[in-house]
Amino acid sequence: MTDFNRILVTAALPYANGPIHIGHLAGVYIPADIYVRYQRANKRDIKFVCGSDEHGVPITIRAMKEGVSPQQVVDKYHAIIKESMEQMGISFDIYSRTSNKIHHETASDFFRKLYDDGLFEEKETEQYFDEKAKTFLADRYIVGTCPVCANPNAYGDQCERCGSSLSPDQLINPRSVLSDAIPVKRKTRHWYFPLQDYEAWLKEWLLEGHKEWKNNVYGQCKSWLDNGLQSRAMTRDSNWGIKVPVDGAEGKVLYVWFDAPIGYISATKELTGQWKDYWCKPDTKLVHFIGKDNIVFHCIIFPAMLKAHGEFVLPDNVPANEFLNIEGDKVSTSRNWAVWVNDYVKDFPDQQDILRYVLCSNAPETKDNDFTWKDFQDRNNSELVSIFGNFVNRTFVLMHKLCSGKVPPLHNDILDDTDRAIIAEFETTKNKVSDSLENYKFRDALFEVIDLARKGNKYLQEKEPWKKQTGEGMDGQKQIDNCLHICLQLTANLSILINPFLPYTAKKMLHMMKVVEKMLEWENAGKPNLLKTGYSLREPQLLFRKIEDTEVATQVEKLRSGLIKTEASKESSENKTESKVAAPVTKAEIQFDDFAKLDFRVGQILSASKVEKADKLLKLEIDLGFEKRTILSGIAMHFNPEEIINKQVVVVANLAPRKMRGIDSQGMILMAEDGEGKLHFVSPESIINNGSSVS
Ligand code: 2FM
Ligand code: ZN
Repeated sequence: MTDFNRILVTAALPYANGPIHIGHLAGVYIPADIYVRYQRANKRDIKFVCGSDEHGVPITIRAMKEGVSPQQVVDKYHAIIKESMEQMGISFDIYSRTSNKIHHETASDFFRKLYDDGLFEEKETEQYFDEKAKTFLADRYIVGTCPVCANPNAYGDQCERCGSSLSPDQLINPRSVLSDAIPVKRKTRHWYFPLQDYEAWLKEWLLEGHKEWKNNVYGQCKSWLDNGLQSRAMTRDSNWGIKVPVDGAEGKVLYVWFDAPIGYISATKELTGQWKDYWCKPDTKLVHFIGKDNIVFHCIIFPAMLKAHGEFVLPDNVPANEFLNIEGDKVSTSRNWAVWVNDYVKDFPDQQDILRYVLCSNAPETKDNDFTWKDFQDRNNSELVSIFGNFVNRTFVLMHKLCSGKVPPLHNDILDDTDRAIIAEFETTKNKVSDSLENYKFRDALFEVIDLARKGNKYLQEKEPWKKQTGEGMDGQKQIDNCLHICLQLTANLSILINPFLPYTAKKMLHMMKVVEKMLEWENAGKPNLLKTGYSLREPQLLFRKIEDTEVATQVEKLRSGLIKTEASKESSENKTESKVAAPVTKAEIQFDDFAKLDFRVGQILSASKVEKADKLLKLEIDLGFEKRTILSGIAMHFNPEEIINKQVVVVANLAPRKMRGIDSQGMILMAEDGEGKLHFVSPESIINNGSSVS
């Protein structure tokens, strides 16, 4: 185990092509911020860097949709995102942007170093070209049917339905996003990074060396490495991005996934002259906080690039989270099915900590999770208000009432086991929280803090100091003193422990206790004597407010009507003007001969099972009458394996086999998708022979 002397935390650079939503906060920025605040409280040498990702197809597509230049897009959204991050208390040391000069220089130098070292393969290949728009189509400029799950709108780099990583060549019936034209193949030259050369090293470094990484991260990496790596083009035909810094590369820019992670280096350079300490000294702990769709780039491609370059440290951990769904449905920015952070801040002014609380306690740490406004209300009302807020408020009210607003003394002569037990909890909780945070278990850590407040309430309830005031002479007052002394010290401890999670709340507590921020240093947690006896404290101020049913109803309605509005406005704008990104009702026309090439057959599902580490895929054994096939289908989120056994389905029987997760998938089953995104089998009306052809 290396001893680290400094920590560099990076949070995924969001594309500056739209505002951020709460899924971004839950997946990346809140856990990263909690970790950083905790480490700062521990007085660790730590830097927290982020910035806007301003290159690549996501930006140019947004520019086309809005009818403005890419520069205008990134300027607008960079400002919105930066403000949202600040408002939510995400405490970056720097929030930079990849359009900065320093980044262009850093990324160019990085590319140039690999180029000069002869590490790229220069290849001329045939790539899809849109003759109408006169441009090559890479990544998200091209859509088609996913060969894995039959999603008709899969992108050239990824299918968002089943999560498969794709190349444009794998799409069935590809079409251009720009013009809807059927693309043709044209020759073009690019620089490829031979990932396969780093495969053995990656297996050793990652699979052997980082078994402690989260299961979801490790599993995805293992599956990539088991399936074998291939060269990846690190340049694109485009005029938006960082120019490829070699002769004869006009009209070519660096692939956004080459330059974006280098953005972490540029941001650190911009932040501090000591940037090399954080990037080049082996006693730096580098931690990347990301969402699950970024795993391959941060765990395989970027480390291979860093290794190839040779001067930089490698990530010590990449604690990626899964996705947060909203009200039972996947977030969809195009359908406006999202809770936007800038909207939240407007609708709930000064209530950042509630959202931070809910998103951390319900974080998708090990699997996709669901955010609902009802759950938001419940967690706030029954945990923050009723447990944490209630304990602090009762303590302060009673202290003012029974101890004249001053920290009462502790009378050791009458301390009992209940008192000792709760005091012991300060240290125990601190250790549990520290341990969980060091291991990126944010939900567990937060749970422990709330649990300490819960224990505080129980203690107060057992001691009933309000009953002791009269008739018990000096001892009665001594018992009151002890109880409230302990509750106040517990409150001080709670402020330290809650600070990484709910910094605004911790600040309010400091104000009430009339203590300075220095008390929040982590070394103070666990101590039973943080507040001085006789010190007078302020009147209590409510830490949290209840969320009313009407607020929940308003938000749910906003979400639903926002969804309808988007669909409607899309329709009306398409009627008015010729939309540049046409959304055709059907795919482009094909000839009968094209259709006749497809061999559809009726098959029967003999068995179905989940595929390890691929939560979207089911492995199906299908009887086609003349033979049995193994087919992987991206339907695991829609059906339980047991409920589909014996079902007859329609199979594309002559589709070239494709290897996924180490398994050969020999065909594809047809599914119908309804307006709500639910999948339905396409089956014969009544049972017929397996293998019957469908035409
Ligand atoms: O997925 C995304 O939003 C990317 N913009 C993340 C980039 S992370 C890093 F590499 F910069
Ligand atoms: Zn798919």
